[in-house]
Amino acid sequence: MDVEVAHAATIAAVADRLSAAGIHAARAEARWLVEHAVSAAGSGGQETDLEALVRRRLNREPLQLVLGSWSFRTVELALEPGVFLPRPETEMVAGLAIESACAAGPTPLVAEPCTGSGAIAASLLAEVPGVAVHATDIDPRAVDLARRNVAAQAKPGRCTVHQGDLLDPLPPVLRGQLDVLVANPPYLPEGDTDQLDIEVATHDPVAALFGGRQGLEVVARLLSLASGWLRPGGVVVLEIDSRFGEQALIAAAGAGLSEGALERDLTGRHRALVARRAEVAGDGQAVPCGWSAATTDRRAEAGP
Ligand SMILES: C[S@@+](CC[C@H](N)C(=O)[O-])C[C@H]1O[C@@H](n2cnc3c(N)ncnc32)[C@H](O)[C@@H]1O
Repeated sequence: MDVEVAHAATIAAVADRLSAAGIHAARAEARWLVEHAVSAAGSGGQETDLEALVRRRLNREPLQLVLGSWSFRTVELALEPGVFLPRPETEMVAGLAIESACAAGPTPLVAEPCTGSGAIAASLLAEVPGVAVHATDIDPRAVDLARRNVAAQAKPGRCTVHQGDLLDPLPPVLRGQLDVLVANPPYLPEGDTDQLDIEVATHDPVAALFGGRQGLEVVARLLSLASGWLRPGGVVVLEIDSRFGEQALIAAAGAGLSEGALERDLTGRHRALVARRAEVAGDGQAVPCGWSAATTDRRAEAGP
Protein backbone atom coordinates (compact mmCIF):
# COMPACT_ATOMS: atom_id res chain seq x y z
CA MET A 1 0.00 0.00 0.00
CA ASP A 2 1.14 3.54 -0.69
CA VAL A 3 3.09 5.04 2.22
CA GLU A 4 0.95 8.16 2.05
CA VAL A 5 -2.17 6.09 2.72
CA ALA A 6 -0.79 3.43 5.06
CA HIS A 7 1.01 5.91 7.31
CA ALA A 8 -1.15 9.02 6.88
CA ALA A 9 -1.47 9.72 10.62
CA THR A 10 2.27 9.32 11.25
CA ILE A 11 3.12 11.58 8.30
CA ALA A 12 0.69 14.24 9.55
CA ALA A 13 2.15 14.12 13.06
CA VAL A 14 5.73 14.42 11.80
CA ALA A 15 4.72 17.23 9.44
CA ASP A 16 3.21 19.18 12.35
CA ARG A 17 6.46 18.92 14.31
CA LEU A 18 8.62 19.95 11.35
CA SER A 19 6.29 22.84 10.54
CA ALA A 20 6.33 24.06 14.14
CA ALA A 21 10.15 24.11 13.91
CA GLY A 22 9.93 26.43 10.87
CA ILE A 23 10.76 23.86 8.20
CA HIS A 24 9.02 25.03 5.02
CA ALA A 25 8.29 21.85 3.05
CA ALA A 26 7.17 20.04 6.21
CA ARG A 27 4.59 17.74 4.62
CA ALA A 28 6.88 16.57 1.80
CA GLU A 29 9.79 16.09 4.17
CA ALA A 30 7.62 14.15 6.63
CA ARG A 31 6.61 11.80 3.83
CA TRP A 32 10.26 11.22 2.85
CA LEU A 33 11.31 10.54 6.43
CA VAL A 34 8.46 8.08 7.04
CA GLU A 35 9.06 6.39 3.70
CA HIS A 36 12.77 6.04 4.50
CA ALA A 37 12.09 4.51 7.93
CA VAL A 38 9.45 2.13 6.53
CA SER A 39 11.53 0.98 3.57
CA ALA A 40 14.63 0.42 5.73
CA ALA A 41 12.59 -1.72 8.09
CA GLY A 42 10.88 -3.56 5.19
CA SER A 43 14.11 -4.41 3.37
CA GLY A 44 15.21 -6.57 6.28
CA GLY A 45 18.11 -4.24 7.09
CA GLN A 46 18.66 -2.62 10.42
CA GLU A 47 15.44 -0.94 11.43
CA THR A 48 15.68 2.82 11.11
CA ASP A 49 14.18 4.63 14.06
CA LEU A 50 11.78 7.24 12.68
CA GLU A 51 12.02 9.27 15.87
CA ALA A 52 15.81 9.48 15.53
CA LEU A 53 15.46 10.69 11.93
CA VAL A 54 12.89 13.31 12.92
CA ARG A 55 15.06 14.60 15.77
CA ARG A 56 18.03 15.00 13.45
CA ARG A 57 15.89 17.02 11.05
CA LEU A 58 14.47 19.11 13.90
CA ASN A 59 18.10 19.91 14.77
CA ARG A 60 18.25 21.36 11.24
CA GLU A 61 20.47 18.68 9.77
CA PRO A 62 19.72 18.83 6.01
CA LEU A 63 17.15 16.29 4.84
CA GLN A 64 19.60 14.88 2.27
CA LEU A 65 22.07 13.97 5.03
CA VAL A 66 19.39 12.54 7.29
CA LEU A 67 18.29 10.26 4.45
CA GLY A 68 21.92 9.51 3.51
CA SER A 69 21.34 9.52 -0.23
CA TRP A 70 19.48 11.68 -2.72
CA SER A 71 17.98 11.33 -6.19
CA PHE A 72 19.41 13.65 -8.82
CA ARG A 73 17.80 13.25 -12.25
CA THR A 74 18.15 9.49 -12.89
CA VAL A 75 20.92 8.74 -10.38
CA GLU A 76 20.97 8.00 -6.66
CA LEU A 77 23.86 9.80 -4.95
CA ALA A 78 25.62 9.06 -1.69
CA LEU A 79 26.06 12.25 0.31
CA GLU A 80 28.32 13.19 3.19
CA PRO A 81 28.79 16.02 5.67
CA GLY A 82 31.35 18.53 4.44
CA VAL A 83 30.51 18.16 0.74
CA PHE A 84 28.01 20.47 -1.01
CA LEU A 85 24.53 18.94 -1.18
CA PRO A 86 23.15 18.88 -4.73
CA ARG A 87 20.09 21.08 -5.34
CA PRO A 88 17.06 20.36 -7.54
CA GLU A 89 17.70 23.45 -9.72
CA THR A 90 21.06 22.00 -10.78
CA GLU A 91 19.20 19.11 -12.44
CA MET A 92 18.14 21.58 -15.14
CA VAL A 93 21.75 22.78 -15.57
CA ALA A 94 22.89 19.17 -15.92
CA GLY A 95 20.09 18.66 -18.46
CA LEU A 96 21.43 21.49 -20.65
CA ALA A 97 24.90 19.91 -20.59
CA ILE A 98 23.41 16.49 -21.39
CA GLU A 99 21.53 17.93 -24.40
CA SER A 100 24.69 19.58 -25.72
CA ALA A 101 26.76 16.45 -25.16
CA CYS A 102 24.20 14.28 -26.96
CA ALA A 103 24.18 16.71 -29.88
CA ALA A 104 27.98 16.58 -30.13
CA GLY A 105 28.17 13.08 -31.59
CA PRO A 106 28.78 9.49 -30.44
CA THR A 107 31.73 10.14 -28.09
CA PRO A 108 31.33 13.56 -26.54
CA LEU A 109 34.07 14.93 -24.31
CA VAL A 110 32.94 16.90 -21.26
CA ALA A 111 34.71 18.68 -18.39
CA GLU A 112 32.95 19.37 -15.12
CA PRO A 113 35.03 21.50 -12.74
CA CYS A 114 33.59 22.09 -9.22
CA THR A 115 31.99 18.64 -9.22
CA GLY A 116 31.21 18.39 -5.46
CA SER A 117 29.38 15.08 -4.93
CA GLY A 118 29.75 14.30 -8.65
CA ALA A 119 26.04 14.84 -9.31
CA ILE A 120 26.45 16.34 -12.79
CA ALA A 121 29.24 13.95 -13.83
CA ALA A 122 27.23 10.91 -12.69
CA SER A 123 24.18 12.16 -14.62
CA LEU A 124 26.26 12.59 -17.76
CA LEU A 125 27.52 9.01 -17.41
CA ALA A 126 23.99 7.73 -16.87
CA GLU A 127 22.32 9.66 -19.69
CA VAL A 128 24.89 10.20 -22.45
CA PRO A 129 26.06 7.05 -24.22
CA GLY A 130 29.74 7.19 -25.20
CA VAL A 131 30.52 10.22 -23.05
CA ALA A 132 33.94 10.80 -21.47
CA VAL A 133 34.01 13.13 -18.48
CA HIS A 134 36.84 14.86 -16.64
CA ALA A 135 35.56 16.23 -13.32
CA THR A 136 37.57 18.28 -10.81
CA ASP A 137 37.20 19.68 -7.33
CA ILE A 138 39.59 21.58 -5.12
CA ASP A 139 38.36 19.85 -1.97
CA PRO A 140 39.72 16.31 -1.36
CA ARG A 141 36.53 15.30 0.49
CA ALA A 142 34.47 16.16 -2.58
CA VAL A 143 36.90 14.34 -4.88
CA ASP A 144 36.63 11.21 -2.75
CA LEU A 145 32.82 11.28 -2.70
CA ALA A 146 32.53 12.12 -6.41
CA ARG A 147 34.81 9.18 -7.26
CA ARG A 148 32.50 6.86 -5.35
CA ASN A 149 29.37 8.30 -6.95
CA VAL A 150 30.66 8.01 -10.50
CA ALA A 151 32.03 4.53 -9.79
CA ALA A 152 28.49 3.49 -8.83
CA GLN A 153 27.27 4.24 -12.36
CA ALA A 154 27.11 1.52 -14.95
CA LYS A 155 30.18 2.68 -16.89
CA PRO A 156 32.45 4.36 -14.35
CA GLY A 157 35.57 3.94 -16.49
CA ARG A 158 34.58 6.90 -18.62
CA CYS A 159 34.92 9.46 -15.86
CA THR A 160 38.08 10.66 -14.15
CA VAL A 161 37.79 12.84 -11.05
CA HIS A 162 40.86 15.01 -10.46
CA GLN A 163 41.76 17.11 -7.46
CA GLY A 164 42.78 20.66 -8.22
CA ASP A 165 41.85 24.16 -9.30
CA LEU A 166 39.19 24.39 -12.05
CA LEU A 167 40.70 22.97 -15.27
CA ASP A 168 44.33 22.87 -14.10
CA PRO A 169 44.38 19.08 -13.53
CA LEU A 170 43.08 18.18 -17.02
CA PRO A 171 45.54 16.56 -19.44
CA PRO A 172 46.91 19.41 -21.61
CA VAL A 173 46.22 17.31 -24.71
CA LEU A 174 42.51 18.04 -24.20
CA ARG A 175 42.98 21.78 -24.83
CA GLY A 176 40.73 22.91 -27.66
CA GLN A 177 38.97 19.51 -27.65
CA LEU A 178 36.06 19.74 -25.19
CA ASP A 179 32.54 19.52 -26.57
CA VAL A 180 31.01 20.75 -23.31
CA LEU A 181 32.27 22.57 -20.23
CA VAL A 182 29.66 22.48 -17.48
CA ALA A 183 29.89 23.69 -13.89
CA ASN A 184 27.93 24.73 -10.86
CA PRO A 185 30.66 26.91 -9.36
CA PRO A 186 30.54 28.85 -6.09
CA TYR A 187 28.60 32.00 -7.04
CA LEU A 188 27.22 33.76 -3.98
CA PRO A 189 28.63 37.18 -3.07
CA GLU A 190 30.57 37.04 0.19
CA GLY A 191 28.16 39.49 1.82
CA ASP A 192 25.28 37.00 1.51
CA THR A 193 26.35 35.09 4.63
CA ASP A 194 23.50 36.46 6.75
CA GLN A 195 20.79 35.42 4.28
CA LEU A 196 21.63 31.71 4.19
CA ASP A 197 19.22 29.08 5.53
CA ILE A 198 20.55 27.58 8.72
CA GLU A 199 21.09 24.20 7.01
CA VAL A 200 23.22 25.82 4.30
CA ALA A 201 25.18 28.01 6.71
CA THR A 202 26.02 25.13 9.03
CA HIS A 203 26.54 22.29 6.52
CA ASP A 204 27.67 23.48 3.09
CA PRO A 205 31.41 24.23 2.91
CA VAL A 206 32.28 27.92 2.50
CA ALA A 207 34.43 27.16 -0.56
CA ALA A 208 31.37 25.69 -2.27
CA LEU A 209 29.21 28.77 -1.77
CA PHE A 210 31.06 32.04 -2.20
CA GLY A 211 32.56 33.29 -5.42
CA GLY A 212 34.37 36.40 -4.25
CA ARG A 213 33.07 39.81 -3.23
CA GLN A 214 30.49 40.05 -6.04
CA GLY A 215 29.99 36.32 -6.55
CA LEU A 216 31.30 36.31 -10.11
CA GLU A 217 34.96 35.51 -9.48
CA VAL A 218 34.87 31.77 -10.28
CA VAL A 219 32.28 32.22 -13.04
CA ALA A 220 34.55 34.79 -14.72
CA ARG A 221 37.60 32.54 -14.36
CA LEU A 222 35.77 29.63 -15.94
CA LEU A 223 34.54 31.81 -18.82
CA SER A 224 38.06 33.06 -19.45
CA LEU A 225 39.30 29.45 -19.60
CA ALA A 226 36.46 28.22 -21.84
CA SER A 227 37.70 29.31 -25.27
CA GLY A 228 41.08 27.67 -24.72
CA TRP A 229 39.58 24.28 -23.75
CA LEU A 230 36.45 24.05 -25.92
CA ARG A 231 36.63 22.92 -29.51
CA PRO A 232 35.27 25.44 -32.02
CA GLY A 233 31.48 25.28 -31.58
CA GLY A 234 31.84 23.72 -28.10
CA VAL A 235 29.37 24.78 -25.42
CA VAL A 236 29.83 26.17 -21.91
CA VAL A 237 26.98 25.75 -19.41
CA LEU A 238 27.34 27.47 -16.02
CA GLU A 239 24.89 27.64 -13.16
CA ILE A 240 24.63 31.27 -12.06
CA ASP A 241 23.04 33.41 -9.41
CA SER A 242 19.75 34.57 -10.95
CA ARG A 243 20.50 38.14 -9.80
CA PHE A 244 23.64 38.39 -11.91
CA GLY A 245 22.60 36.99 -15.29
CA GLU A 246 23.37 40.18 -17.22
CA GLN A 247 26.84 40.46 -15.67
CA ALA A 248 27.53 36.81 -16.55
CA LEU A 249 26.47 37.47 -20.17
CA ILE A 250 28.82 40.45 -20.35
CA ALA A 251 31.64 38.34 -18.89
CA ALA A 252 30.98 35.63 -21.52
CA ALA A 253 31.14 38.13 -24.37
CA GLY A 254 34.27 39.67 -22.83
CA ALA A 255 35.85 36.20 -22.79
CA GLY A 256 35.30 35.92 -26.55
CA LEU A 257 32.36 33.49 -26.36
CA SER A 258 29.39 33.83 -28.70
CA GLU A 259 25.65 33.07 -28.64
CA GLY A 260 25.43 33.82 -24.91
CA ALA A 261 21.95 33.11 -23.49
CA LEU A 262 20.32 32.80 -20.08
CA GLU A 263 18.11 29.79 -19.32
CA ARG A 264 15.36 29.84 -16.68
CA ASP A 265 14.68 27.19 -14.06
CA LEU A 266 11.22 25.87 -13.15
CA THR A 267 10.58 28.87 -10.92
CA GLY A 268 11.21 31.22 -13.88
CA ARG A 269 14.54 32.50 -12.55
CA HIS A 270 17.62 32.78 -14.72
CA ARG A 271 19.61 29.77 -13.57
CA ALA A 272 22.13 28.99 -16.31
CA LEU A 273 24.38 30.80 -18.73
CA VAL A 274 24.95 28.99 -22.02
CA ALA A 275 27.50 30.20 -24.59
CA ARG A 276 29.70 28.82 -27.35
CA ARG A 277 33.19 29.04 -28.65
CA ALA A 278 32.62 30.47 -32.12
CA GLU A 279 33.39 28.26 -35.09
CA VAL A 280 35.62 30.04 -37.53
CA ALA A 281 35.65 29.15 -41.21
CA GLY A 282 38.75 29.44 -43.40
CA ASP A 283 37.68 32.93 -44.44
CA GLY A 284 37.43 34.05 -40.83
CA GLN A 285 33.59 33.99 -40.83
CA ALA A 286 31.73 32.30 -37.96
CA VAL A 287 29.77 29.26 -39.19
CA PRO A 288 26.86 27.36 -37.60
CA CYS A 289 27.86 24.74 -35.05
CA GLY A 290 27.75 21.05 -35.95
CA TRP A 291 29.28 17.87 -34.65
CA SER A 292 33.03 17.75 -35.01
CA ALA A 293 34.45 14.43 -36.19
CA ALA A 294 37.53 15.26 -34.11
CA THR A 295 35.65 14.04 -31.04
CA THR A 296 35.67 10.43 -32.18
CA ASP A 297 38.67 8.92 -30.39
CA ARG A 298 38.94 11.18 -27.42
CA ARG A 299 37.09 8.98 -24.94
CA ALA A 300 40.36 7.16 -24.39
CA GLU A 301 41.73 10.32 -22.79
CA ALA A 302 39.30 10.00 -19.89
CA GLY A 303 40.46 6.57 -18.78
CA PRO A 304 40.65 6.04 -15.02
C1 LIG B 1 28.25 24.90 -5.56
S1 LIG B 1 29.25 23.48 -5.30
C2 LIG B 1 28.68 22.48 -6.66
C3 LIG B 1 28.86 20.99 -6.47
C4 LIG B 1 28.17 20.12 -7.52
N1 LIG B 1 28.67 20.41 -8.85
C5 LIG B 1 26.67 20.30 -7.47
O1 LIG B 1 26.11 20.94 -8.37
O2 LIG B 1 26.05 19.77 -6.54
C6 LIG B 1 30.83 24.08 -5.83
C7 LIG B 1 31.99 23.10 -5.72
O3 LIG B 1 33.14 23.76 -6.28
C8 LIG B 1 34.29 23.40 -5.55
N2 LIG B 1 35.29 24.43 -5.81
C9 LIG B 1 35.37 25.68 -5.29
N3 LIG B 1 36.41 26.34 -5.83
C10 LIG B 1 36.99 25.51 -6.72
C11 LIG B 1 38.12 25.60 -7.58
N4 LIG B 1 38.84 26.73 -7.66
N5 LIG B 1 38.44 24.55 -8.35
C12 LIG B 1 37.71 23.39 -8.29
N6 LIG B 1 36.65 23.24 -7.47
C13 LIG B 1 36.29 24.27 -6.71
C14 LIG B 1 33.80 23.30 -4.11
O4 LIG B 1 34.67 22.49 -3.34
C15 LIG B 1 32.40 22.68 -4.32
O5 LIG B 1 32.46 21.28 -4.24
